[in-house]
Amino acid sequence: MTDPTVNETIARPAPALPDAQTVTEVQHYTDRLFRFRVTRPASLRFRSGEFLMIGLLGDNGKPLLRAYSIASPSWDDELEFYSIKVQDGPLTSKLQHIQPGDQLIVRPKPVGTLVHDALLPGKRLYFFATGTGFAPFASLLREPETYERFDEVIITHTCRDVEELTYGRELIEGLKADEMMQELLGDGLEKIRYYPTTTREESPKMGRITKLIETGELFADLGIPALNPETDRAMVCGSLEFNKDIKTLLEQAGLREGANSEPAEFVVEKAFVG
Ligand SMILES: Cc1cc2nc3c(=O)[nH]c(=O)nc-3n(C[C@H](O)[C@H](O)[C@H](O)COP(=O)(O)OP(=O)(O)OC[C@H]3O[C@@H](n4cnc5c(N)ncnc54)[C@H](O)[C@@H]3O)c2cc1C
Ligand SMILES: NC(=O)c1ccc[n+]([C@@H]2O[C@H](COP(=O)([O-])OP(=O)(O)OC[C@H]3O[C@@H](n4cnc5c(N)ncnc54)[C@H](OP(=O)(O)O)[C@@H]3O)[C@@H](O)[C@H]2O)c1
Repeated sequence: MTDPTVNETIARPAPALPDAQTVTEVQHYTDRLFRFRVTRPASLRFRSGEFLMIGLLGDNGKPLLRAYSIASPSWDDELEFYSIKVQDGPLTSKLQHIQPGDQLIVRPKPVGTLVHDALLPGKRLYFFATGTGFAPFASLLREPETYERFDEVIITHTCRDVEELTYGRELIEGLKADEMMQELLGDGLEKIRYYPTTTREESPKMGRITKLIETGELFADLGIPALNPETDRAMVCGSLEFNKDIKTLLEQAGLREGANSEPAEFVVEKAFVG
């Protein structure tokens, strides 16, 4: 007589990875930063700027998930992510080793506040990013609606070192060279104003963006008026401390924080917790 317990164990297939997608491309920038692309779940609809949960199976066989901004635009066939590598981080200590062909868990439930729906119409749109906080703007910069809704898009990106700016710089150079985008960006491609700054390594523009706003240097460099709630809108993504400091500056200028349910002049999302 067969032992039903043994039979059941042998017959049970290995658990399939839930919500599995396949990695298609991986590019490393520094020992702390990389980007990767994966196949897109057929059911996934999202608004450019939103985030969702992605991850791998943990050592205990359970999904180990973290919030990630989708760096690709809503129209893209694949999903792109721009990631930190935290050497002792539960997820990214493993995630940094993924290769094309590997499987990744992508929970198809996008959410977030860095979306056009949360902002009132305006003339000039600011994206303020530090570090991997560039990711949601990598999506929104490739979204045609961004240029349909605004006359001018200013993207500031502050990192410690020059090398940490590479993902953003290459993405913007690529956009300006893209024939499809050139129509949206206008004559002279003047609709995108890229303003990278570093704080710990020498570069053409040094300093925290908060300081450059306070002193007026940002506006003088770009030849534009200071922040004005009548015309200006902003999206902010960085550390908690950065978000708090930018929020204070925006509120001092008279801009109000918006949400999906109540659009206003600016929106904020954290790039990481801690
Ligand atoms: C709404 C939201 C969106 C996010 N989007 C992204 C994204 O697009 N790309 C991304 O790399 N991360 C993003 N994160 C952070 C991400 O969820 C994880 O924290 C990160 O992948 C590290 O995971 P971990 O398990 O290795 O370490 P964790 O235990 O999650 O983090 C360990 C420590 O590493 C530091 N850290 C974590 N993430 C970052 C980061 N991105 N930059 C700098 N330091 C960090 C913090 O000090 C944190 O306490 C987002 C977080 C939130 C809340
Ligand atoms: N980036 C690295 O090379 C590195 C290496 C090892 C460990 N870490 C650790 O990893 C974590 C995240 O590092 P990160 O570099 O990705 O992010 P981060 O510490 O948030 O810094 C990213 C950029 O934002 C600036 N910034 C930070 N807080 C700000 C604020 N309140 N207002 C304006 N600008 C602000 C930083 O300037 P400042 O330089 O002036 O702070 C830096 O240029 C930190 O805990 C850090 O200690 C980072």
